[in-house]
Amino acid sequence: MAESTRSVPTAGVAMTAIGVALIRVQESRRPDRLYDDPLAEVFVEAARPSFDDNRWARFEALADQFFEGRSVAVKLVDDHVLEAVAAGCEQIVLLGAGLDTRAFRLELPAGIGFFEIDLPELFAFKEPVLAAQQARPACERRVVAADLSGEWARALRASGFRAELPTLWIDEGVLGYLSREHAYDVAVTVTDLSAPGSRFGIARFAVDQAAPQYRALRRLVSEDGNQDRPINGLGPDGGAWFAAHGWRTSFRGWDELTAPYGRPVAMNDPEAGNILAVRQ
Ligand SMILES: C[S@@+](CC[C@H](N)C(=O)[O-])C[C@H]1O[C@@H](n2cnc3c(N)ncnc32)[C@H](O)[C@@H]1O
Repeated sequence: MAESTRSVPTAGVAMTAIGVALIRVQESRRPDRLYDDPLAEVFVEAARPSFDDNRWARFEALADQFFEGRSVAVKLVDDHVLEAVAAGCEQIVLLGAGLDTRAFRLELPAGIGFFEIDLPELFAFKEPVLAAQQARPACERRVVAADLSGEWARALRASGFRAELPTLWIDEGVLGYLSREHAYDVAVTVTDLSAPGSRFGIARFAVDQAAPQYRALRRLVSEDGNQDRPINGLGPDGGAWFAAHGWRTSFRGWDELTAPYGRPVAMNDPEAGNILAVRQ
């Protein structure tokens, strides 16, 4: 693709999607890879020329620091998607889809509705790259360019989403970028749009916001001028909120979930893990 037609998010939250793509590139190159994501390499190659060497080096160093846990989490979500489809979910909605390529790389039934919601600037980069690759999704992929801190349900419905069908909703690193109030607005909308049997996974981790990698992440992302971007999301009460709003919840510990993958990611924290919420 000609350089001038590319629109790379080099600052702000949309840029974090490139960081996760870097992690998926690293995983895909390993002989013991947990998944293979060839399009991640294509996104990274397309983005690289828009960053200066120093900024890119900081970006790569940060991806390295998050690599182990984040990459195993990608595999967990892959498995979660396939389980949900086997359990009867007919639609998948990625909240803050970023440069995710599950619509292309997972063996999903052709009739599955696969909705990717993210900011317009993210899709301004992602879609031309996919088009240049002539990438073909395995299922009914729909792009919804919308801000999750605003009114997004209408755009989702307009793209073909059907609230009467059981849906898997995925938050893989987006709600943390929303204020607490906006994160719960998303939870309310998800609840309103969820037929019985719909699923929502909630990560429960004690995040140390003062840890060096989180401070470095905030600094890198904040170069859009928003110096104090907080990382909020649903917070520790997310699971309880879903349980109180018509969802059945169950918890599985991170160490138990990740043990089969043989990676050094144990947290030795019985409170850390994933809450699965199923709409009743
Ligand atoms: C850390 S990335 C994760 C991307 C993807 N889920 C993955 O795991 O590769 C966070 C994503 O959330 C998106 N995002 C952040 N705030 C958003 C908002 N208010 N509305 C929609 N998307 C948002 C960003 O553009 C970015 O793609």
